[in-house]
Amino acid sequence: MKTILVTGAGGYIGSVLVPKLLGKGYRVKALDRFFFGQDKLELHENLKIIQDDTRRIKDEYFADVDAVIDLVAISNDPSGELLQEATYQINQISRVNTAYLAKKNGVKTYILPSSCSIYGFVDNNIIVNEDSPTNPLTTYAKANEKAELGVLPLADSSFTVVVMRQATVYGYSPRMRFDLAINGMTLGAYKTGVIPLMRDGSQWRPFVHVQDTTDVMCMLLEAEKEKINGQIFNIGSEANNYQLGPLADEVAKALPKKVEIEWYGDPDHRSYRVSFNKIEQTLNWQAKWTAADGALEIYDALISGKLENMEQSITLNWYKELIKWHGIIKKIEMYDGIIDL
Ligand SMILES: NC(=O)c1ccc[n+]([C@@H]2O[C@H](COP(=O)([O-])OP(=O)(O)OC[C@H]3O[C@@H](n4cnc5c(N)ncnc54)[C@H](O)[C@@H]3O)[C@@H](O)[C@H]2O)c1
Repeated sequence: MKTILVTGAGGYIGSVLVPKLLGKGYRVKALDRFFFGQDKLELHENLKIIQDDTRRIKDEYFADVDAVIDLVAISNDPSGELLQEATYQINQISRVNTAYLAKKNGVKTYILPSSCSIYGFVDNNIIVNEDSPTNPLTTYAKANEKAELGVLPLADSSFTVVVMRQATVYGYSPRMRFDLAINGMTLGAYKTGVIPLMRDGSQWRPFVHVQDTTDVMCMLLEAEKEKINGQIFNIGSEANNYQLGPLADEVAKALPKKVEIEWYGDPDHRSYRVSFNKIEQTLNWQAKWTAADGALEIYDALISGKLENMEQSITLNWYKELIKWHGIIKKIEMYDGIIDL
């Protein structure tokens, strides 16, 4: 039975990945600060929870670990701009250090879930692949690229390193994120019957469902290392390269409710299309989900009450709240308590 150390395990992707790994018979060590709560992961006999900060990761966490999936991050552009220093420390420096310690402690495989956002934005209709020049424009994207550059040279015959450049993810997760495009569109449609859409809707963006990207993570754990070691893979599919206007139409059509589209902002000329041929050919894998399936899945979860529009689901707002309350609580906490002692 292999043991996988997953960092950022309580996050949007981690809280889908961890039960999937357990279901496939892996042991999992789930390392996270749990900024979004520990309740996103259900107890399991093969799950070990480690509440810690990856900037203070310890050698002992790598004991008996076969592979690391290093999801930890300040995970989007606005949070990266608010928390620039922490974004470099966590997304770049701690992940390169984790890869280094993994290798030192005899772990065989290290997977870095990076992002297609490191391509930046290119002229309409250019299709980028893994060999295209990168152009990271934000702190979040720059930290991801530096992490890639830091971990890839560690690859050798005894240590497999793989970089996944994920498209923007969508779909249901126990740690829901409504700050991701398809998820946010669906929430808008559910709450007010309005999908907010940035003008002029012709811009291209790639997407991938959270079940599809976590399937790829599982496949990479078992793939022949000669095929994947030292490689970068874009994760998504041509069918999930959407122009935002048609994407909003598809989300609207998928939902059992009358929905309007409300335009906002100045025309956004930033646009990029991504090729996913390499991952499809290397793993003989195809994404299963479409935006319509994902939107309906989220809508049904909202209707049934399985999913709420909780405060934590907008990452930036939640980090701002944590910072605000940390200051307040520190000032008034006494004898380990506030009201009850
Ligand atoms: N969701 C997407 O659309 C998307 C797209 C491309 C790439 N990615 C990448 O995938 C990874 C996971 O993204 P996500 O959407 O699950 O993000 P998320 O914000 O939901 O999860 C990140 C997790 O990391 C934890 N964390 C943050 N700082 C920590 C620290 N210092 N020590 C320990 N734990 C810490 C948080 O508590 C959280 O549970 C990230 O690296 C992100 O950049 C995500």
